[in-house]
Amino acid sequence: MSHLILQVVKFADAKEVIQSLRSKVFQVEQKVEPTIDFDGLDETATHILAYYASEPIGTARIRNLNNKLAKIERVAVLSTHRGQGIGKAIMKAAIVYVDSQNIAEIKVNAQLHAKAFYQKLGFEQRGDVFNEAGMAHIEMRRSKHPLAE
Ligand code: COA
Repeated sequence: MSHLILQVVKFADAKEVIQSLRSKVFQVEQKVEPTIDFDGLDETATHILAYYASEPIGTARIRNLNNKLAKIERVAVLSTHRGQGIGKAIMKAAIVYVDSQNIAEIKVNAQLHAKAFYQKLGFEQRGDVFNEAGMAHIEMRRSKHPLAE
């Protein structure tokens, strides 16, 4: 992964790249409605972008819900680049960013299939399965603690 570069960006500075990645993963692959994905909250969120050999291959966004709780969402890696630790690297960059703001807790609404992905990053399930964007989800939370290597 020596060619992996992670950036923290504002939406206005990387709009086309973020939209292209999320369109491929959420709209084309997962059949999510564009209006659900692009919900008007991107402009005020902080975004993570992953580049491999200069090619954009993954993204996520972070929103502060209040001064104690942030939410990481829209976590996406192109299907061609999965299973190589890129999703984990994006999540770690997002967690480090939230921790640097001294926010105590992080929430994700995880697609059920990705539960183990988030568990490995220290997130724990809260409550029951619910439907979001036509897919089964669970809320998961992570309290501030050191990241495992
Ligand atoms: N189910 C179970 N475990 C998973 C998993 C899944 N769907 N995806 C990844 N993992 C595990 C990996 O096996 C790996 O474990 P390890 O550290 O013990 O080797 C760890 O999580 C990190 O995996 P990584 O290779 O970094 O994940 P990735 O780059 O393939 O990205 C997603 C994972 C979920 C971001 C990617 O599959 C994706 O973009 N999916 C489509 C969009 C999506 O569903 N996003 C999540 C919305 S909540």
